[in-house]
Amino acid sequence: MSTIKKIGVFTSGGDSPGMNAAVRAVVRTAKNFDLNVVGIRHGYYGMIQKDFVELDGISVSNIIQQGGTILKSARSADFKTEEGRAKAAQNIKDYDIDALVAIGGDGTFQGATSFYKEHNIPVIGIPGTIDNDLSGTDETIGYDTALNTAMDAIDKIRDTADAHDRMFLVEVMGREAGFIALETGIAGGAELILLPETLTRMPEIKSSLSDVFRAQRRSSLIVVAEGDETGGAVKLADELKGDFGKYDMRVCILGHIQRGGKPTARDRVLSSRLGAAAVQSLMDGHTNVMVGLVNGEVKVSPLHNTWSKKKSINYELLELAKMLS
Ligand code: F6P
Repeated sequence: MSTIKKIGVFTSGGDSPGMNAAVRAVVRTAKNFDLNVVGIRHGYYGMIQKDFVELDGISVSNIIQQGGTILKSARSADFKTEEGRAKAAQNIKDYDIDALVAIGGDGTFQGATSFYKEHNIPVIGIPGTIDNDLSGTDETIGYDTALNTAMDAIDKIRDTADAHDRMFLVEVMGREAGFIALETGIAGGAELILLPETLTRMPEIKSSLSDVFRAQRRSSLIVVAEGDETGGAVKLADELKGDFGKYDMRVCILGHIQRGGKPTARDRVLSSRLGAAAVQSLMDGHTNVMVGLVNGEVKVSPLHNTWSKKKSINYELLELAKMLS
């Protein structure tokens, strides 16, 4: 029998579509176990500022389809300090919160790992980031929506690229991970895909592009992850201008458009499953773990592993992209 009576739930770091669906699932599952739920607004920042709100089944009505997060999000510098975490822990205890559900990405889970180590407050993570860069889950909440948003944008760019016979460099999000770039590049039929995980050599890029134009293609599209070591799409365009100056070149940075919008069905289902699994895991006595979906099944992984073990991109997909371009 669990001694947990009240749980706190929060969203932290970069928001991702589906976070609301996960909050809803946490709250509604908690009600099934007669638990009280407190929403901690603005993530760790709100934990330090005591920005708490009681949540019930009704307060999470009509949010499953909404992007963003009703609990708001933030990146907190104070929580990175021991003093900040001590203040947050005191507030959690003062509010009689027995356990936490943290929805976020690697930064959120690094914070949660230290917090658990120092203050021993049970915590379960739910992977929420468009970057898909957490080990212990095939996909993170928001990744599928971001992919579809970026693909839709690329389709539109292709139309205008084709109309004007232009070369487009499209930059997608991903400071340290190329998951979005790789899969949107394939789905959008990109001629080249540049990722932080692979070394980008200018001579190779130039020779691939020359092949593209030798094949009489008049327009072309390159997908660049923001964290690619070339420095991103703007810098790359500057580098290419010398050799490909006769081609009309444009840069489009998709940016935060990838973080917003209605979650796809797949993200809503993932959020619902993981939100329910997080509460169930707490009730089963798990702590300091993340719930994820591995080969379609809910699995728990040590929180520390989710951010300290680098999740690999699928190199077969990269080869496939090269072959098809
Ligand atoms: O981690 C999610 C993410 O969207 C990254 O892809 C991106 O590099 C970063 O957040 C942007 O952060 P911010 O919204 O704080 O500028």
